Amino acid sequence: MAIIEVQGLTKKFGDLLAVDAIDFEVEEGEIFGFLGPNGAGKTTTINMLTGLTRITGGQVYIAGVDCRQAVKKVQSIIGVVPDESNLYDELSGLDNLAFCAALYGIPRAQGLKRGRRLLKQFGLEEAGDRSFRTYSKGMKRKLTIAAGIIHEPRILFLDEPTTGIDVVSARQIRNLIGDLHRQGRTIFLTTHYIEEAERLCSRVAFIVDGRIRHLDTVENLLEQAREEHILEFVLANERVLDQDFLQKEFPTARIEVSQNRVRVHTPRPTGLKPFIDRFSDLDCAVYEARLLRPTLEDVLIKITGMDTTGLQEVKMG
Ligand SMILES: Nc1ncnc2c1ncn2[C@@H]1O[C@H](COP(=O)(O)OP(=O)(O)OP(=O)(O)O)[C@@H](O)[C@H]1O
Ligand SMILES: [Mg+2]
Repeated sequence: MAIIEVQGLTKKFGDLLAVDAIDFEVEEGEIFGFLGPNGAGKTTTINMLTGLTRITGGQVYIAGVDCRQAVKKVQSIIGVVPDESNLYDELSGLDNLAFCAALYGIPRAQGLKRGRRLLKQFGLEEAGDRSFRTYSKGMKRKLTIAAGIIHEPRILFLDEPTTGIDVVSARQIRNLIGDLHRQGRTIFLTTHYIEEAERLCSRVAFIVDGRIRHLDTVENLLEQAREEHILEFVLANERVLDQDFLQKEFPTARIEVSQNRVRVHTPRPTGLKPFIDRFSDLDCAVYEARLLRPTLEDVLIKITGMDTTGLQEVKMG
């Protein structure tokens, strides 16, 4: 069953069309990702879905409730984790959580109990009594997520949950998101990390300039890419490392050159040897040669025909 239904959702800021009549549905229990570059309209969409920004046009139903009619009712079943923390610097971690609980009408004793449990789950037990100000960025993000689920919402909205924090904290946060999902929550997240979308989400909407350019399961997206085969070579010869030159040499493949690295995308499975032989004829030493697993990025480039500059790749452990 769709727990989030969005039809023709539109947001204008003056003349700027930030979100342009988008449609999508999120199934109960899935992790649904909004992937897109800066300024694509991800935060604006989250803000409309969660009642933080007025909707210019279109419909949003969350658990069957019309967002425009009953924002309060919707807000009791959703949790929102904004891209910037909304917690209080001078309060301790635990007091921040108890305060958030109180906003949902949860009595203080129960708020403290839930707060302690979440601090433990999020590995922040030791820091619970320290003021939020003293937290590292990663700790702040974790506490902000804990605050977003203090009222045990069915649906959690996360805006760029791992942007701007260190690799280790980012990995812990991705694991936490996985745990929250396994506990049965529906999760809607935005990201501009392709690997994050690939790793966490069951389905991904690719949004650019306020429009959804593509929406599918990660599995289907990767399946499409498996029809393409990618070889990568690290080469020595600068003359050979010219995109136009190589494209003419290998007209049936799509060539991408970046510094001394060449990627060859071929429509059919191809061995490395014919390429290595050809490079050798061209007097070009090959330092490395390998077959690459296609990534979501390859798929997005293939499907949308656009480059994905603005989307970022991160090393993920
Ligand atoms: N309050 C506002 N007033 C005017 N324009 C806005 C406002 N908020 C967002 N915009 C514009 O709407 C567009 C979409 O912005 P949005 O913040 O939704 O993008 P985003 O996908 O979240 O980007 P990022 O990855 O940088 O967070 C941008 O062009 C932005 O400048
Ligand atoms: Mg944003």
